[in-house]
Amino acid sequence: MTAPLLEVEGLRTHFLTRAGVAKAVDGVSFVLQPGEILGLVGESGSGKSVTGFSLIGLVDPPGRIVGGSIRFAGQELVGLPAEQMRALRGRRIAMVFQDPQATLNPVLTIGTQMALALQAHDRVSDRAAAERAATMLTRVGIPDAAARLGNYPHEFSGGMRQRVAIAMALLNGPELIIADEPTTALDVSIQAQILHEMKALAAESGTALIWISHDLATVSALAHRVLVMYAGRIVESGPVGAVLRAPLHPYTRGLLDSLPAMTEPGRRLRQIPGTAPSLLALPPGCPFAPRCPRADAACTAPPPRVDHAERRALCHHPLEAAA
Ligand SMILES: Nc1ncnc2c1ncn2[C@@H]1O[C@H](COP(=O)(O)OP(=O)(O)OP(=O)(O)O)[C@@H](O)[C@H]1O
Ligand SMILES: [Mg+2]
Repeated sequence: MTAPLLEVEGLRTHFLTRAGVAKAVDGVSFVLQPGEILGLVGESGSGKSVTGFSLIGLVDPPGRIVGGSIRFAGQELVGLPAEQMRALRGRRIAMVFQDPQATLNPVLTIGTQMALALQAHDRVSDRAAAERAATMLTRVGIPDAAARLGNYPHEFSGGMRQRVAIAMALLNGPELIIADEPTTALDVSIQAQILHEMKALAAESGTALIWISHDLATVSALAHRVLVMYAGRIVESGPVGAVLRAPLHPYTRGLLDSLPAMTEPGRRLRQIPGTAPSLLALPPGCPFAPRCPRADAACTAPPPRVDHAERRALCHHPLEAAA
């Protein structure tokens, strides 16, 4: 077995706000192998983006990593000096955001930005940079790439702009790309296309991918393994197929039941009742208990870890074990 690319252990990222401490990420642990595609799913506010930002050292005050460890290729990233973190970012670890404007500078041409991104980490001639940039744009499906290097971001459509952002992330051949809802703002057919291409590119270059999404269907089409996040914790994890076929955690079941493709045609979709809890005032014990159909008095105590055929969950009353 090869050494893992990423080992996250007990990661805690908290926001110290005037209203109290929001425990956005509260004891997250997982392992990622080189080249693996990991889906990170959960409802809005569950801590997915904060997890992603923590991994690349981009948590801004009042947020702070208050505990745990992030080992990337054997190197500890928690507490790494900002300068060393910057050297890793963009080169060995890259991020793609939901909004490509977050990555692209509106006043520079795509060619200039891509050349700068390459030259920030390597001595590359302008000409070689332009060639590499055009190759990358072609690979993400931008037609006539060499000519488009002279265009500004606003001269691309939304879908094309996101492809440019993905090309930027791939530019330095990173070992890990963290993609945070990179296709949610796009048309469904374009989403599927980009998903498909990202998967092919990751496989081809051996890049590991953490794909963040609130949409379990998207993740299931792409990832090898999935982490299900609720209130700052990973409540279930395992191979995508197994988790989808027979989830252990009632929360995962709820997410599945709210997917159109997973229910019979004509049947009404079931939403998980209630709303995600405030991270400032989590109930004692299992944070999902107030919304859970299986909850009872036991659930006011912290949930035990359940291991079941490669899957893992935090639950007093897991589904499979009961069956
Ligand atoms: N700047 C901030 N200040 C205070 N609290 C914050 C801040 N950013 C995030 N949080 C807290 O972290 C929680 C998790 O946020 P995060 O952005 O990670 O959610 P998410 O799972 O990515 O949701 P979404 O699907 O909507 O993107 C928020 O609900 C909030 O309580
Ligand atoms: Mg988010």
